[in-house]
Amino acid sequence: MCGVVGYIGSKSAAPVLIDGLRRLEYRGYDSAGIAVLSEGRILSRKETGRLANLEKVLTDAPLQGTRGIGHTRWATHGAPSQVNSHPHFSSDEAVAVVHNGIIENYAELRDELTGKGHHFLSETDTEVIPHLIEQELKEGAASPLAAVLHALKRLRGAYAVGILFRDEPDAVYCARLGSPLIIGLGDGENFIASDVPAIINRISSVIYLNDGEIARVRQDRVEICTLEGATVEPDPQAVSFHSEDAECAGFETFMLKEIHEQPRILRALLGQYISADGSIDIGPGLKPDYFRKLNRIMIVACGTAYHAGMYGKLLMENLTGIAVETDLASEFRYRDPKIDPGTLVIPVSQSGETADTLASIRMAKDWGCRVLAICNVEGSSMVRESDAVLFTNCGPEIGVASTKAYTAQQMIFALLALYITGIRNDLTPEQIKGYLSELHEVPDAVHYVIQNKETIRKIAEKHHDGPSSLYMGRKFNYPTALEGALKNKEISYQHAEGYAAGEMKHGPIALINESLPVICICTKTSDEVYEKMLSNIKEVEARNGRIIAVATEGDIEIRKLTQDVLYVPEVRDEFTPIVNVVALQLMAYYAARARGTDIDKPRNLAKSVTVE
Ligand code: G6P
Repeated sequence: MCGVVGYIGSKSAAPVLIDGLRRLEYRGYDSAGIAVLSEGRILSRKETGRLANLEKVLTDAPLQGTRGIGHTRWATHGAPSQVNSHPHFSSDEAVAVVHNGIIENYAELRDELTGKGHHFLSETDTEVIPHLIEQELKEGAASPLAAVLHALKRLRGAYAVGILFRDEPDAVYCARLGSPLIIGLGDGENFIASDVPAIINRISSVIYLNDGEIARVRQDRVEICTLEGATVEPDPQAVSFHSEDAECAGFETFMLKEIHEQPRILRALLGQYISADGSIDIGPGLKPDYFRKLNRIMIVACGTAYHAGMYGKLLMENLTGIAVETDLASEFRYRDPKIDPGTLVIPVSQSGETADTLASIRMAKDWGCRVLAICNVEGSSMVRESDAVLFTNCGPEIGVASTKAYTAQQMIFALLALYITGIRNDLTPEQIKGYLSELHEVPDAVHYVIQNKETIRKIAEKHHDGPSSLYMGRKFNYPTALEGALKNKEISYQHAEGYAAGEMKHGPIALINESLPVICICTKTSDEVYEKMLSNIKEVEARNGRIIAVATEGDIEIRKLTQDVLYVPEVRDEFTPIVNVVALQLMAYYAARARGTDIDKPRNLAKSVTVE
């Protein structure tokens, strides 16, 4: 969703801002703009569509100046248009603001300000902010900082803002409440940004601003205070990844690069969470005794992370004696889930900033629950608000369609389930050792699938046309079917539906004909699920369905029933979803490529959904 950047230093601000915005493109946007302080005036350029359009405007009408703010906008209030693009200005053009979040009371503030003579140009909620600041200055605020403090206190909702004052040229202001914002420290220059990858190539350390804090960022120092005006000592932290991690590294897209990173990431997670003596170490956040007494787990997440949560539920219920539920965070927060303080809440999130998942954490804490987050981003809101965190440590995930974060979340659930099992003696140490040894085979199996990508590409290219596709799986691979369908629709824009194969007779079977691709996840299992899947496949075959199976290497029989087979190596039943999904990620990838979509930045989607 909206991306914010800001710069103060001695370089020309416009190219720095554009570079930062380019690195934020993955968040999703439909227009962009920058404002630069230039010879005593704040000048701006804005354009709808891709950043290239804004760059063209800047080539024709460059902006000179060494401090500025920039924004990529994902429209909420008002259509994507030049006038609705940020930065927004006060009437006297002395204050410019970029904003990520939603100001819920903007309508009443707008009415009040209109009554005081302010004239609004856009349909956005954001535009009230510069006008409020201007009004505070008019009414005698002692300084720009005082005006910002007063203005922000009037806002209800969520914001990460960057603010530029015409009359205070040696500072860029920023503040956050409920939306992500960081301050990057460089050499004789400083930055603000929605996230670290936006400025990773320019900074040596980072300050994670807390909710309710405001910073005055100068070229050589940063001053922070709370909304109440109390001074906060800045706490710069080293950045744990390199700028190359946020580059494409020779791959045609970030998504393809991220798919290829999975074997390495999965291996590293095994190394990180399994100690030299073979025991699983999840860190000190929650004590073993807590898990011994635990009787209920509630997993909350959105999108792909929700599918990882579904896998986590199946695995934990299978291996431990604990009742586990998974819910969509957007549903969880508005239903009445009857949670008691003894329930462990596990939010799962790549970004750590998804608004609904964050809201669920806050509710859980209000109910007295412990919160154990599975998250990828250090310093994110979720990390800071949870009692303990299991990091997926994937490095920045830039492709909007989540891939490496998903398999890393699955791996964390596998480790967590085995850890809990060990503590509660649900399995013997010998059994756990057996599981772990088989979990170690997963990264190589994923590597094998990726090596086979040419075969997957040919199959994807054969079936990519047509309006729709159906994905079916059972038990551990029911979430895989949902995730495969989600990947496909996200990036190839083909309607795709994931279904529990046993439910097929209750509806989707009506769709089967010779042109509907039906992707069946049918890897061999030690229980009856494989046979059941075969029966479902036969039902599709009997109706002339176009069957593509994900099957275990060596399963010759399945060829007789299907048009195409994506073979994957055999791994233990419980771990097949980590391997199978990679075949479906590649299948979606090559289908999208054949359909000519913008794979890393699919239309309308945002990487980090920071508003409800
Ligand atoms: C968006 C992204 C998805 C992601 C979901 C949850 O919809 O496009 O890829 O799965 O948000 O995001 P999170 O950061 O909480 O995992």
